[in-house]
Order: sequence, then structure tokens, then C-alpha cells
Amino acid sequence: MFRIYSCIRQLLISCLNIFKYTRVENAEKGYQMESVNRDIESNMNAELRAHEDSFIQNHENKIEDFENKANFQDCEQIIDEESIRQFIDDIPHISFQQTEQMKEIGERAVAALNSVIDKMEGFELLEEEQDFNFWIKYVETPEKYQIGIMKYTYTLNTTIDSYLEFMKDLQLQKSMDNSIDAFEKHLEDMNLQINYLRYKKIMFMDPRDFLYIKYSDRKGDDCIEISKSIQVDNFQPQELSAKQCTRAVLLLSGNLIKQIEENKIMITTYSECNMKLKLKPVMTKQASKNEIKKMVKRYRDHFNL
Ligand SMILES: *[C@@H]1O[C@H](CO)[C@@H](O)[C@H](O)[C@H]1NC(C)=O
Repeated sequence: MFRIYSCIRQLLISCLNIFKYTRVENAEKGYQMESVNRDIESNMNAELRAHEDSFIQNHENKIEDFENKANFQDCEQIIDEESIRQFIDDIPHISFQQTEQMKEIGERAVAALNSVIDKMEGFELLEEEQDFNFWIKYVETPEKYQIGIMKYTYTLNTTIDSYLEFMKDLQLQKSMDNSIDAFEKHLEDMNLQINYLRYKKIMFMDPRDFLYIKYSDRKGDDCIEISKSIQVDNFQPQELSAKQCTRAVLLLSGNLIKQIEENKIMITTYSECNMKLKLKPVMTKQASKNEIKKMVKRYRDHFNL
């Protein structure tokens, strides 16, 4: 009985989420959803009937599709997707002693990454080349921050081992990227690290820093590495910032790395990040892509030396 109740509850939440995301996706196109949005929790159905315009019609179809799918078998999956979403949105509060919890977060992040990495709904393709593809999507938070979700793929002439070695060398990373102000390792335990990364002011963005766990999982020829922000009480970087710095949040970022040839790897990245920026996506999406392209070029140059 409880399961059924919880299932129905999850369906309702999912339904509301479809509305919320629909609203965000369409905000840019100038749709006014205020009236639907206002009392969405209490009288969604009444509101739906009250609006006959084509916009609502379109989205009714979405909900019908959704209801058709909503049998109890799919319910499991919806609960699963909801809990993955909750996990991504949650920034765990932990201490440096809780390495077991950190590994657990790492494992869950690997599972979450596997679940989100193939879902392309709502993503805009900004560039498609043989060796570089880039998609982006934005979601607005209640505080009006624009969360950018990027997906991109690229190849490097190297092996997984050399790639991992390269990624672990934070000094090298810093020396290769002018915009990095500090890159510090605060914990290392097998395939788990806690890193602190601080960027200088870049174009429209004042300094930002991140505190996150990095966790990697090797499976045969493949490797997954994930990063996720954490909150740690009284955390102090080794090197203090000279300027005021905003703590940005890596909700979930991860790389899926495959050895596709003897000396060639293919990397697929998913990166969902709240930079605490309110700028409209049209103003930032090309810049985000260009930053990633520059990074890929640095990596390629390094491995092609
Ligand atoms: C890999 O190496 C080949 C041969 O040197 C080069 O032509 C190619 O551009 C390189 N690819 C990448 C992704 O660096």
C-alpha cells in the first residue's frame, strides 16, 4: 500500500516537474505561463481546462504521453530518475574524515552519470565535427541562476593510463591554463580525491572556486571519472584568494573514457554546473563552448608533443 502511495506521489511530482521545466525552457521564447504557474500544485487540472491556446494544447500532449506511460512498471523507473535527480541536486555536507561516505557518493555519482549521459532531450547542438561535438542546455533555478549542462565528446592521442596520470597532476593543469588561480589536492585515497579549484576573473565572470570530490572507476577498457561538489565546514584553501571569490557548484560532472585505438581515447563529458550566474544563456553558450574547445586544444597539444 505504501509503495502504491509513494508511486502516485512520485508521478505527481514528475508531472509538476515537467511543468516547471517546460516553463523554464520556454521562458526565453517569451511565453507567459504566470497563470499556470501560480497555483500549479492545487489546481493544475482546472488551469489546464481554462487555457485553450495552442501552447497548452502542445503541452497537454506531453502530459498525455506521460500518463500513457505511467503504469506501475515505469513507476520504478520514474522513482529511480527522481532519486537520481535528487542526488545530483543535493550537495553533500561532509567532513574530511568521512572517506567511506565519499566513496559511496562517488559510486552513486558514477551510476547517475551513466543514467544522464545518453539523454539528449532539450539539448542544443552547437558544434558537430568529426573529433569534437558539443551540446548545451540550461535550467533556471528558483534564485534565477542559469545552470549550464554541457555534453561534449572529443578524442585524444593517448592511453587511459597516461590520461589519468596527466589529470592527476594539478600543477601541470594549472601551468597549462592561464585562467586557473589555484588547484589544490586536499585528500587522496586510492581512486578518491578532494580538490580545490579556483578560477581568476574570466570575461563576464568574477572569480569562482570549487571544492569537490573526484572519484574514478576502471572497468576493463573503460574508465569513468566523476566530480561532485561537497560542503566542508571551516574549509580553507592552502593559497588564499586575493580577491572576493564566489563558491560555484559542480552538481555532477563526469567523463566516460574509452580506449578506441591503441593510442587513441574517446572522452564523453557531462557537466552540470551552477556558476552562480544570472546571465541569459544566449550570452554565455558560445563562450562556454569556446572555453571547452580551448581546453581540448591544450590537451591535444600536450599529447601530440
Ligand atoms: C592524432 O595524431 C595524428 C597523427 O599524428 C594526427 O593527425 C591527429 O590530428 C591527432 N589527433 C588528435 C585528436 O590529436
